[in-house]
Amino acid sequence: MKKIGIGLLGLGTVGQGVANIISDPNGRHPLVGELELVGVAVKNLQKERNVSFPHSILTSNPIEIVNNPNIQIVVEVMGGIEPAKSLIIQAIRAGKSVVTANKAVIARHGEEIANEAKAAGVYVLIEAAVGGGIPIIEPLKQSLGGNQITKVSGIINGTTNYILSRMDKEGVNYAEVLKDAQELGYAESDPAADVEGSDAADKIAILSGLAFGGAINRADIPTTGINHLEAIDVNYARKLGYGIKLLAISERDNTQTECESSQPLSVWVEPTLVPEENPLAGVNGVNNAILVEGNPIGQVMFFGPGAGSGPTASAVVADILNIAGIQSMSVDKVLNLDPLLSAKSWKSCHVAEEREITKKNYIRLIAEDTPGVIGQIGGIFGQKKISIESIVQFDATNNEAEIVVITHNIKQGQLQDALLDIKNLPQVKKIAATMGCL
Ligand code: HSE
Repeated sequence: MKKIGIGLLGLGTVGQGVANIISDPNGRHPLVGELELVGVAVKNLQKERNVSFPHSILTSNPIEIVNNPNIQIVVEVMGGIEPAKSLIIQAIRAGKSVVTANKAVIARHGEEIANEAKAAGVYVLIEAAVGGGIPIIEPLKQSLGGNQITKVSGIINGTTNYILSRMDKEGVNYAEVLKDAQELGYAESDPAADVEGSDAADKIAILSGLAFGGAINRADIPTTGINHLEAIDVNYARKLGYGIKLLAISERDNTQTECESSQPLSVWVEPTLVPEENPLAGVNGVNNAILVEGNPIGQVMFFGPGAGSGPTASAVVADILNIAGIQSMSVDKVLNLDPLLSAKSWKSCHVAEEREITKKNYIRLIAEDTPGVIGQIGGIFGQKKISIESIVQFDATNNEAEIVVITHNIKQGQLQDALLDIKNLPQVKKIAATMGCL
């Protein structure tokens, strides 16, 4: 059998992990031994590298990779939107299948890329784009295809989960842990995409599309990160029996059977109180976990390392092997498969506005510690038809009280209206925090 030529775009952490697997096929799937690393595009050719392949296959010109006739599968692990997106499209147009770990490109341009792949008759696989080493893309596309999925929720950003786990365990504040995480290499020097929630929003956009068969407009996803989270809320949450996790959630109304424009899909990212007994509460450090709920399966949770060289390379190589396996099939069978190896038909999916999302909430208020304050706050919630699950007064010093309210399921529009009125109460100094709550 002729070897299958692989071209790498990028030789960072993930690229090196992929090269290591290809150069050491022993004990792996037999098809790994049929892969040959033919070319690797890097930014800086002069950089000293200790690599498992001949230096002669390095190039600083990525076009050489996408146009190389000896390469059948292009692996894009350079990250960022451009030039990654253009190179993916050029590779497809040159007749090559593509494996990418690039969630930012797929979340924004996935439909365009899928259409290009369809027209060219090649494959684009994205297992490494969400959840690092956790197999979640293929299960949503294939293994769970017999289910009506109702909800996908999860911890899909390892950096923020590491920071939150340490804030919870050590009682320290966000800025302190972030600095430490950067020094230890768990957080980037520019941590914005992780801590502001945008990385998780990219990933939930991709998962939602697969779970509900619809293209999601990434810009419509209400997103709140952990960068304004205070240690005091982590502490109060724990006292109430919850941990705080940055959750990405996508759910449809129970009456819907698929993505329909008349019934929007609720998709959002925010720090969320998770009850201690919920399986997501025990997911700590840089691990990720995705809980999929559907009919008839009930709940299934996928757990594992959400980032890192080895785990992400494991997902990339799984995709390479999928394509390599298909390429060794007969032409007739190949023509019957769609380019994303996806089971569902694809429609545009309408994402609900934030005011329409229904969920439980945690609210922390700072108010004067005077008679009747809690009654007035409760009265406003009542007027807006918001049912309160619990209301607790924590520390009261210098005549100031910290009041924490947990609501039942309500529309976010109701909460926003109530908070406007509560803010205007003379005894209320500040609405100090709002978060989701499971
Ligand atoms: N920055 C991501 C995370 C890893 O912290 O989970 C790659 O998706």
